[in-house]
Amino acid sequence: MAKTLSPGAENAQLQQEYTELIRTVLSVKYPDGAPKAFVHTYGCQGNVADGERLMGMLTEMGYVFTDVREEADFILLNTCAIREHAEDRIYGNVGALKPLKNSRPDVIVALCGCMMQQAHVCEKIKKSYPFVNLVFGTFALPRFPALVYRVLTGEKHVFDTGEESASPLNEGLPVFRESKFKAWLPVMYGCNNFCTYCVVPYVRGRERSRTAEAILAEAKTIIAGGAKEITLLGQNVNSYGKGSPDGVDFPALLRMLNALPGDFKIRFMTSHPKDCTKELLDTMASCEKVAHHLHLPVQSGSNRVLREMNRCYTRETYLELIRYARSVMPDISLTSDIIVGFPGETYEEFLQTLSLIREVCFTSLFTFIFSPRAGTKAANMDDPVPAAEKSRWFSELIRAQEEIAAERSRETVGRVFEVLVEGSAREQNSWLTGRTDGNVIIDFPGDEKLIGTRANVRVTQAKNWVLTGELI
Ligand code: 5AD
Ligand code: SF4
Repeated sequence: MAKTLSPGAENAQLQQEYTELIRTVLSVKYPDGAPKAFVHTYGCQGNVADGERLMGMLTEMGYVFTDVREEADFILLNTCAIREHAEDRIYGNVGALKPLKNSRPDVIVALCGCMMQQAHVCEKIKKSYPFVNLVFGTFALPRFPALVYRVLTGEKHVFDTGEESASPLNEGLPVFRESKFKAWLPVMYGCNNFCTYCVVPYVRGRERSRTAEAILAEAKTIIAGGAKEITLLGQNVNSYGKGSPDGVDFPALLRMLNALPGDFKIRFMTSHPKDCTKELLDTMASCEKVAHHLHLPVQSGSNRVLREMNRCYTRETYLELIRYARSVMPDISLTSDIIVGFPGETYEEFLQTLSLIREVCFTSLFTFIFSPRAGTKAANMDDPVPAAEKSRWFSELIRAQEEIAAERSRETVGRVFEVLVEGSAREQNSWLTGRTDGNVIIDFPGDEKLIGTRANVRVTQAKNWVLTGELI
């Protein structure tokens, strides 16, 4: 009788099979030492998490990593499609590889990630960048070793950008974690929301949640490895578990993770306001390991624009959520994403966004000018406002947020925060940089031995939004 394997076991078996074949090929091809791989990930933390799995697989194949592109035997660019600017940069960086490939034809050039999941991009790669050896999309991660094997054994162009996947949850893949004390943990993939500007549902497919069992097992491994912070990832974590057989939804998942023993904090992103429930906020408030930080992208303060964006909430319901969050967690830190210049947005509507951000007082904002993405509804909407005008609105938004952040920063002087010490400060010798639960950076003098631990820091000075402090 045929044995049925769990998705993780099936993936692991596939890895093992091809990884062994690749190790043999590589030991013949590179008899003088391990071949080197250069991996660069663009875009969001979801992509970073994929990148960590790809690096895990490369490690098992026998590659070591280098930061120097010119000395790499394998170059992998893990791409992002969210805005045109990101795509332009990537085309530029791929083009820049041509001389390298001319001088060392043996180098393998591979492209993967969201941008490759679009047919017009693949056509362009085939036509304009024929030196690229391997192109694969977001559904092909478990097949990575099989694809590399095909290239190593002589195929010049390998493309795998289909949506079919026997195990679309990437279970059972090895992970190379770049940080010892901060870990990314994907809980779900894909998005069902089809906001009219967004390409994600097209390049990442429909929502699918990992089982709570798989997530808890990965969290335990991460904690045993000494991590002090776990960030749960998903395009829309609040719809985690919808329709799942084990009945675990996102608040329940948070409670299960919170109950794991160990000295660690839990963060998560991204939340969609339409699915952010009072139960979730109550759960955040009552779970001592969950950081009081909520990234809740509002995108616009105008109800008409929100409707056109298909966001399924209003300015009023958003503000009500914020009020409730602050009532159960007075110290909560709120961050958000804003799009300026959505097709048809008027200056008056933009002013409603400005008034909303002033009303909420976000800790920080990620701000974007609308970028039309092929295949999305908004790409075909009338867009009469000139780019220069949108840039002016954008600057106005940034100035407003800087004022808000400066005011918030001033209020923190004299207060003590617990931070996770993340590394050396960039601008000051023998200073450290730490991050509060609210995702605010504080620089302070201290010994490098503290990196990766938690420390209490009193804020002594606030310059704009940069805080400096002293160890307690
Ligand atoms: N144009 C501009 N910004 C966009 N975002 C997503 N799609 C677009 C687009 N087409 C922004 C949204 C989202 C963040 C991740 O990127 O604000 O929340
Ligand atoms: Fe894009 Fe909207 Fe899905 Fe976020 S929720 S990934 S903005 S479609």
